[in-house]
Amino acid sequence: MILTLSLLWTVIICKVYTLSLFEARCLRFDPGRYYSNSTVTALAFIPAKTTLQFPDNDQSCKRPSQLIPQDICRIAMSLPTSHRSSIIFEAWFPSNWSGRFLATGNGGIDGCIRYEDMAYATSNGFAAVGSNNGHNGTTGVSFDENDDIVTDFAWRSLHTITGFGKKILHVFYEKHHSKSYYLGCSLGGRQGIKATMKFPSDYDGVVAGSPAVDFNHMISWRGSFYPMTGGSGDARYVDQALWKGLVHEEVLRQCDTLDGAKDGIIEDPTRCNFDPGALLCGSDAVHAGSTTCLGTAQVEAVRRIFKPMTGAHGEILYPAMQPGSEDKASEGLYNGAPWPYSLDWYRYVVYDPSWNGSRMTPRDIQAAESRNPSNIRTFPRQLHEFKARGGKILTFHGQQDNQISSFNSNRLWDRLNIGMSGDLDSFYRFFRISGMNHCNTGPGAWVFGQGGGVSAAGVPFESSQNILAALVDWVEYGRAPEHIVGTKFVNDTVLAGQHFQRRHCKYPATNTFVGTDPYDVDSWECH
Ligand SMILES: *[C@@H]1O[C@H](CO)[C@@H](O)[C@H](O)[C@H]1NC(C)=O
Ligand SMILES: *[C@@H]1O[C@H](CO)[C@@H](O)[C@H](O)[C@H]1NC(C)=O
Ligand SMILES: *[C@@H]1O[C@H](CO)[C@@H](O)[C@H](O)[C@H]1NC(C)=O
Ligand SMILES: *[C@@H]1O[C@H](CO)[C@@H](O)[C@H](O)[C@H]1NC(C)=O
Ligand SMILES: *[C@@H]1O[C@H](CO)[C@@H](O)[C@H](O)[C@H]1NC(C)=O
Repeated sequence: MILTLSLLWTVIICKVYTLSLFEARCLRFDPGRYYSNSTVTALAFIPAKTTLQFPDNDQSCKRPSQLIPQDICRIAMSLPTSHRSSIIFEAWFPSNWSGRFLATGNGGIDGCIRYEDMAYATSNGFAAVGSNNGHNGTTGVSFDENDDIVTDFAWRSLHTITGFGKKILHVFYEKHHSKSYYLGCSLGGRQGIKATMKFPSDYDGVVAGSPAVDFNHMISWRGSFYPMTGGSGDARYVDQALWKGLVHEEVLRQCDTLDGAKDGIIEDPTRCNFDPGALLCGSDAVHAGSTTCLGTAQVEAVRRIFKPMTGAHGEILYPAMQPGSEDKASEGLYNGAPWPYSLDWYRYVVYDPSWNGSRMTPRDIQAAESRNPSNIRTFPRQLHEFKARGGKILTFHGQQDNQISSFNSNRLWDRLNIGMSGDLDSFYRFFRISGMNHCNTGPGAWVFGQGGGVSAAGVPFESSQNILAALVDWVEYGRAPEHIVGTKFVNDTVLAGQHFQRRHCKYPATNTFVGTDPYDVDSWECH
């Protein structure tokens, strides 16, 4: 009895002692020594379950605070990247470190640190880094007349924090990291692909979601919708209620059951040849104010929206928007106003602030493509170096992505597959996530550990249903994922429990319904 008690005390004392050792190590750390002219803006031990506040973070980032699940040492610094640019850097080093390193990415054209991805990574034992990608907030104003800030945005910020992060991690833990990872979606997906091209030794494994590759064309494509529809009041304009209540319903009527199941989820939108002609009103008199049919100009606008973007000679420059996404795209890309990211890119990078987004001609598209600052394009034909060093890439794309057409990820795979002479599968795998919008949300089984709030915490860190865990398994144990099981939670609320799960297939395989209950994971087969 006495022995047990004293053992217990030893355990408790040891526990307290280890914690305070880690805290002391954190507080005496001096990362400024390892980067000239840097400024340390925060150095603190953050105990598990703290809600960390970021009072200085740009409000447009909409990230005023973050719950920290594990004990971490938080390091925040400002790192100059040139005489006229610098980045805000964060490193979160967990006390219970797995030995792995992970860098996080950004989104849109923003300079917003993905604190939620850093928290996700540290809660799974990774030492995580992130940055503001060279500027603060969601606009592109700071790109104006400053190509150094654009260079940070294109690749330099991520590469810098990766090199610096690994360096201070070594000093901090007095140990090298075992493996190095990257996790990002959207612009973050592009950042990950760019790193595998330009700095193939930066990461052993990369999760690159819904990647904004072929970036210049993508920016123009996103800027092409407003010129197609005009603003509200224009004869071509289709309002949100019509997109959601009429067009989306018609898309589902024409395409939902192509995969065998009527569940509001289109497994493979490449099979959906949506014809908006079915929605044309009998006469223009009927059309006025109608909620059940569209006018001639509206049908024509919808038709154009679902066509690829072409250049001066009709050549395809960017694939079509995939049908199924209109429910959400009506709130953004088709909302009758210039798309803010494209507007800013043309204003502050391609042209000048007089650009108002009212046109998108082949000449404008070419101007963006030629400008290609710091080679931001990111559209590889091959990744030989990354493959040769043993690197692995997992990518995914929501099949109703409302911001970047998922058809572009099919195109990237097809292009790489040719460039790598058919040998992609040994290091690059792409999963199509049916019923998912841009990076997250949607009617499908969209939670699979891809980072970002609920999607991270919802499923266990286990390779069958978590894409980051699957990547670790592939890199460290050579077990490559054949599919990724996604989870749909009731009301998208983890605590409300699972609604259903679905296996997402490895491209080019598609999911086919072979059972009786679409919400049974075994009712589907990848062919
Ligand atoms: C650090 O700052 C000094 C003074 O502003 C400058 O001369 C020097 O080039 C900077 N060093 C680096 C590595 O940026
Ligand atoms: C950018 O945001 C950080 C806080 O995240 C702040 O310390 C820094 O001063 C900001 N920079 C500018 C140029 O506003
Ligand atoms: C530390 O992390 C490992 C997995 O990396 C986990 O099994 C263990 O429970 C963690 N310990 C604590 C005290 O959080
Ligand atoms: C946008 O700019 C063009 C000139 O490039 C001009 O003709 C057009 O009227 C402008 N539209 C608006 C809404 O300001
Ligand atoms: C789901 O959300 C709706 C609306 O917020 C609510 O009425 C419903 O009770 C919720 N269902 C469950 C199972 O939580």
